[in-house]
Amino acid sequence: MAQRETWTSRVGFIFAAVGSAVGLGNIWSFPFQTASNGGAAFLVVYLLAVFLIGFPTMLIEFVIGRRSKQNAVSAFSELGYGNWTFAGVIGVFASFITLSFYSVVGGWVLNYIVGSVTGGYLGDASTFFGSVSSGTVAVAAHAVFMAITIAIVAGGVADGIERATKFMIPAILVLLAGLAVWGSTLSGASAGYAYYLSPDFGVIATNFTSIVPSAMGQAFFTLSLGFGVMVAYASYLGRDDSLPGDSAIIVVLNTIVALLAGFAVFPILAATDALTGSTGAGTAFVALAGAFGQLPAGRIIGFVFFVVLLFAALSSSISLLEAPASYVVDSYDTERWKVAVGVGVVAFLLGIVPAYGYVGLFNDFVFNILLPIAVLFIALFAGWIYGGEAVDELGRGTSLGRGAMTAWLWWVRVVVPIVVAYTLWLGVTNFYAGLVNGAYF
Ligand code: PHE
Repeated sequence: MAQRETWTSRVGFIFAAVGSAVGLGNIWSFPFQTASNGGAAFLVVYLLAVFLIGFPTMLIEFVIGRRSKQNAVSAFSELGYGNWTFAGVIGVFASFITLSFYSVVGGWVLNYIVGSVTGGYLGDASTFFGSVSSGTVAVAAHAVFMAITIAIVAGGVADGIERATKFMIPAILVLLAGLAVWGSTLSGASAGYAYYLSPDFGVIATNFTSIVPSAMGQAFFTLSLGFGVMVAYASYLGRDDSLPGDSAIIVVLNTIVALLAGFAVFPILAATDALTGSTGAGTAFVALAGAFGQLPAGRIIGFVFFVVLLFAALSSSISLLEAPASYVVDSYDTERWKVAVGVGVVAFLLGIVPAYGYVGLFNDFVFNILLPIAVLFIALFAGWIYGGEAVDELGRGTSLGRGAMTAWLWWVRVVVPIVVAYTLWLGVTNFYAGLVNGAYF
C-alpha cells in the first residue's frame, strides 16, 4: 500500500480543519437560523451547544483519527473494535449525502456571483432565485461546483487541500470583516444589532423544543462533527500536537467567522426591513440579494459576499469529499484522483434530486437525524468502550492535567449522550412533523 500522506505542518492541519468547519453553515445558515429562531435567544443556546457539546465531541473525533491513522470507517477495526464500524459508516454516509446537496447550494452561489456581475438579481430577487435554484441551471452549476471540489481533492492532502485552504481562510476573514464594517455604516444597523445581540429569554422558554435541535444541529454541522471528516483529517496528523489546543483554535476561529457573518448580515437585513420572516434555505438568498439590490454599491458588495461564500463552501466541500474518498483510498489502494472523481460523480448524480427542489429535505434529514445519531454513537464508543485509551491519546502532546482529562471522559460518557439523545428525539419528531404536514414536498 502506498505511503499514507500527512499534513506538512500543524498550521496546515489547522487551516484545513478550519476550512472544513467554516462554510455555508457559518455565513449562510447561521445568520438565518438565528434570524428565524428569535435572534439573540438562539445565539445563546447555539454558543452553549458549540462550546459544551461541540468542543468535547471534536476531541473524540481527533482522538479516534490520530490514534487509528485511518478514515472513520476503518478506524474502529484498526483500534480493535470492528463491531463499532457502523458508527463510522453513518458519519461517512452523512458526508456523502451532505456533499450531494451542499454542492447544489454551492452552485447557487456560483450563479449569484454571475448575477452580481450581470445585475441579474437586482430587479426581482425572488424571480432570480426561482430561475437558478432548481432545474437544469441548478444542475449545471452543481456540476461545475463539484468539478472544482474533485480537482482540489484529487490534488492530495498537502498539495490540494492544505494549499487551497491556506489561501481561502485568510481571504474569508478579511472580506467578511470588511463587510461587517460596511454594514455598520448602514442606517438601521443598530436595530439589526439589537435583534442579534440582546437575548429575550422568554423566547427560549416558549420555543425550547424547536430551538434546541436547531442549535445543536447547527453546532454539529458548523464544526463538521458527526461526518467522519474530523476523524479523517486528524488521521493525517503525523506528530504529537496538542489536540485540545488545536481543537480550541478551530472552534474559536469557526465561531468568530459565524459571529462576523452575523455582523455583516444583520445590519443589511435591518436596513431593508427584512429582519424577521427570513427563514428557510431560499429566503436567505432572496432576502440578501434583495437587500443588495436596494443598497448603494450593493452590486459590488454582493459580489464580494458571494465570493466569500464560494470560498467557504469550497473549503468545506473538499472535506466532505475527503471523508468518503479517504475510506476508498485506505481500503482499496486505488489512486487518489480516480477515487475523487468516482465518489464525486456519484455524489453529483445523487445531488440532482435536491437540485430539483429538495435541498430542505436533504438538509433537515442530515441535521435532525444523521448527525445526532452519529455523534451519539461515537460519544458512547469513546466514553464507555474506548475510555482509558481515549484519555491516553488525548493526553499525548498536551500539558493537560489528569483531572481535566477525567472530566472530559465523564462529560463524554454522561452529559454528551444525554443531551444528544434528547436532541435526536426532538429532531426526529420535528422532521416527522415536516414530512407529514408537507413541508418538504
Ligand atoms: N462545517 C461546514 C459548514 O458549516 C459543513 C460541513 C460539514 C463541511 C461537515 C464538512 C463536513 O458549512
